[in-house]
Amino acid sequence: MKEQLAKIRTEALAALESVKDAAALDELRVKYLGKKGELTAVLKQMGKLTAEERPAMGALANEVRAAVEAAVDAASEKLAEAALSLKLKAETVDVTIPGKTPQLGHKHPMYMALDEIKDIFVGMGFTVLDGPEIELASYNFDKLNAEEGHPSRDWSDTFYFDEGSRVMLRSQTSPMQVRAMETMELPIRIIAPGRVYRKDEVDATHSPMFHQVEGMVIDKNVTMADLKGTLNLLAEELFGKGTVTRFRPHHFPFTEPSCEMDVQCHKCGGAGCPTCKGEGWIELLGAGMIHPRVLEMSGIDPNEWSGWAFGMGLERTAMRRFKIADLRLIFENDVRFLEQF
Ligand code: DAH
Repeated sequence: MKEQLAKIRTEALAALESVKDAAALDELRVKYLGKKGELTAVLKQMGKLTAEERPAMGALANEVRAAVEAAVDAASEKLAEAALSLKLKAETVDVTIPGKTPQLGHKHPMYMALDEIKDIFVGMGFTVLDGPEIELASYNFDKLNAEEGHPSRDWSDTFYFDEGSRVMLRSQTSPMQVRAMETMELPIRIIAPGRVYRKDEVDATHSPMFHQVEGMVIDKNVTMADLKGTLNLLAEELFGKGTVTRFRPHHFPFTEPSCEMDVQCHKCGGAGCPTCKGEGWIELLGAGMIHPRVLEMSGIDPNEWSGWAFGMGLERTAMRRFKIADLRLIFENDVRFLEQF
């Protein structure tokens, strides 16, 4: 029996030493320690021993059981450690692999140009105003000195909502001049960007909806020199230091005198090329000294106050700023186009 116990110990320890997985370990545990296992089988023979032999053999059996149990525990721990290190290896995360960049939106080039324009004017103390796109004809025309019969009021040019031609989609941002004069304290320095609407067919330079930025200053002793100085600064900030401008006489009902400001063509430097259609100059905006009658209609005394105003097309400015050839690209919102800026 002693030999049997010793054999069980040797065999069991050797087998447990090299056990490969949990199933095999369980098999060994049952084989040696189970109810029908080898150790139990030996213990069942205890009855055959004499009373003197029994205690020593019992002690030996317990010793063997304890040794086998300890070996089972050790093997189990070893297997668990091996499994854990395998798992860790399999689940390793390489934090140095570059992440997936999410697709972010992109600011529209026209709004980039608008932000630049806003920055330039806010830096000079102007307030940015927002106003209605559905406008009264009295604000869009009458209070801007464009009386009944003025060609711009024609049904073929303007989107009216009613037979009486009273309510319309504004055709210019200039009504914001009137809204500012009626609501703001003097002196006034504002710009008012926004959408305007005209009955134009879509082509490379036209759209029935486009954007303008209106600007207006009313103060004491304001002159055409202030207008030129401010708008020259605008041109230099937008198109670069040394940008050459020229002011041509023009006519608008709400300004007197009126002018248009051109910027010398950035492509050819004034020699004439396809970009400026051979002119050497590109028209940027309309402007002028606010007509005394316009001031008066909004309750401002033209003997005490004077002012200047301008209106510029935002799409065209962005096209010049970013050298975009076709207006339609501005509205198509093709990401491949937008991402270039
Ligand atoms: N409203 C004019 C247009 O749409 C542009 C304009 C010209 C605005 C002269 C002004 C200005 O404020 O003084 O063609």
